[in-house]
Amino acid sequence: MKLSQHILSMACVLVFAGVASAALSGSAHDFSAESWSGSTICQPCHAPHNAPNGATLGLLWNHEVPSYANYTLYEGQTSNDGFAGLDRDSQACMSCHDGSIALDSFGGTTNGTTFIGASKQMGGGTGDLSDDHPVGAVAVYDFADTGLAPDPKANGVRVRSMTVAGQAESVVSCASCHSVHNKANLPELLRVTNNGSQLCLACHIK
Ligand code: HEC
Ligand code: HEC
Ligand code: HEC
Ligand code: HEC
Repeated sequence: MKLSQHILSMACVLVFAGVASAALSGSAHDFSAESWSGSTICQPCHAPHNAPNGATLGLLWNHEVPSYANYTLYEGQTSNDGFAGLDRDSQACMSCHDGSIALDSFGGTTNGTTFIGASKQMGGGTGDLSDDHPVGAVAVYDFADTGLAPDPKANGVRVRSMTVAGQAESVVSCASCHSVHNKANLPELLRVTNNGSQLCLACHIK
């Protein structure tokens, strides 16, 4: 094969690989090269069968989860002071990012030994999210609020639904600003670039 043909066929392989696995492959959430991952991409987070936390969390959730009861939310509210606490997607993130559960505690293994690095930990190791952008029950997205964009999804971000004080509400979640599957291929797995604070302006009319 001539070199030019070879380069062309390599390029095709790369293009097809890109299509097949989207932007998750090679991202910060692709653990398939880690010795603890079992060489799969999805498995540390999801399982097709017998997912240990699939029944409680949904998402066929295959990872161990911490106790969320003692989290401190924005404005100092705790998960058990009358609010339901974190939304489901944020709970899923915190099963690795809170730092109390090992990355390799998945698929029914509960005694993993590899923990997330301190710089990627959220909540200072104690579940204290009071100095982070509000998520979950304390971050209700009021579509009638003139300070908030009427259609955040059109601006590339999401709001998630959860029950707050007995009522279905749209709330801000970790997954509002971040794409766990790296869909947008941006630094920090963001959904929208934060150049010029675009991410913030997707929701806040300022
Ligand atoms: C690091 C953890 C993680 C990995 C790895 C991961 N996911 Fe997810 N996935 C999540 C979380 C958290 C959610 C819920 C939040 C969201 O949808 O943004 C989710 C949601 C989903 C959903 C439902 C919502 C949607 O986007 O359609 C599907 C389907 C899914 N994942 C499939 C996969 C597949 C297939 C793989 C492997 C190629 C994979 N995921 C890898 C964490 C992960
Ligand atoms: C299976 C464990 C696991 C789950 C679940 C998980 N993460 Fe991560 N995440 C990690 C690890 C480990 C890293 C650090 C990777 C590294 O150091 O390169 C990371 C890195 C990140 C980063 C930094 C990316 C970068 O480019 O450095 C962000 C942002 C992030 N995760 C957000 C989330 C959000 C939001 C969720 C839920 C929607 C989530 N993660 C769920 C394990 C997880
Ligand atoms: C309102 C948008 C927004 C929400 C909600 C949000 N993040 Fe982030 N996150 C960002 C931005 C922007 C960055 C980029 C770095 C920075 O500005 O701190 C970031 C950075 C990160 C990082 C990289 C490490 C760091 O501190 O810089 C991780 C890990 C992370 N976020 C996880 C999460 C998790 C877990 C949640 C839910 C508890 C969450 N984020 C909720 C916007 C958000
Ligand atoms: C997905 C929509 C969304 C995005 C994106 C978003 N916010 Fe928010 N933000 C909210 C909601 C909803 C609240 C809680 C309700 C409120 O205060 O209006 C909130 C609350 C806040 C508050 C607290 C206000 C108070 O009264 O205590 C600040 C400050 C803030 N956001 C700044 C930011 C910044 C900075 C960014 C970009 C990094 C950002 N937001 C991105 C929706 C969003």
